[in-house]
Amino acid sequence: MHRDVLFMDRGQCIFLRSRSEADTIRWGCLLGRLLSPGAVLALRGELGSGKTRFVQGLAQGLDVPPQERVSSPSFALIHEYLGGRLPLYHVDLYRLPEGMPDPELGLEEYLYGQGVCAIEWADRAAAWLPPERLEVELLILGKRSREMRLEAVGADHQAVLSRLKEQVGG
Ligand SMILES: Nc1ncnc2c1ncn2[C@@H]1O[C@H](COP(=O)(O)OP(=O)(O)OP(=O)(O)O)[C@@H](O)[C@H]1O
Ligand SMILES: [Mg+2]
Repeated sequence: MHRDVLFMDRGQCIFLRSRSEADTIRWGCLLGRLLSPGAVLALRGELGSGKTRFVQGLAQGLDVPPQERVSSPSFALIHEYLGGRLPLYHVDLYRLPEGMPDPELGLEEYLYGQGVCAIEWADRAAAWLPPERLEVELLILGKRSREMRLEAVGADHQAVLSRLKEQVGG
């Protein structure tokens, strides 16, 4: 697995390579095991890049029971999975009307709560993302190949990246 990891800027930014859907779920799972209450993950990447697969992995890593199947919340905007080690709030802003302000959505309680909040299409809400967050960008390299770029914004999430770095041998 180590040849699939690249560290940049003294480990503040990590690039992970995925060669299959299962790989992406595994990376999500590994990260999910390391997350603390209040973690916010801002997921970016085009349609089909693997954002939802990654969140499925997060759920595994948070010990969300498999019967609470994580699916795409596009129509619901938010799904809550409460059966794991920490609550998982899965937000998908794909269908967010252009320029809708946060107060109308009422997402603050999730963004600043004690669970883990994973936001697909986070770029649609750039103006009101919390200053402390983990940016996760997925890039499609080929049919099954993806590159994931993880970057901590603010101090809180640096620790998570450092632990991930240790685990993957950095
Ligand atoms: N390495 C990979 N990682 C993740 N998904 C992959 C990979 N290779 C192929 N796939 C396929 O790409 C698709 C990813 O779907 P997924 O719903 O996770 O994307 P998404 O980024 O959430 O898309 P959307 O923007 O529509 O929500 C799945 O059909 C999956 O089988
Ligand atoms: Mg999705």
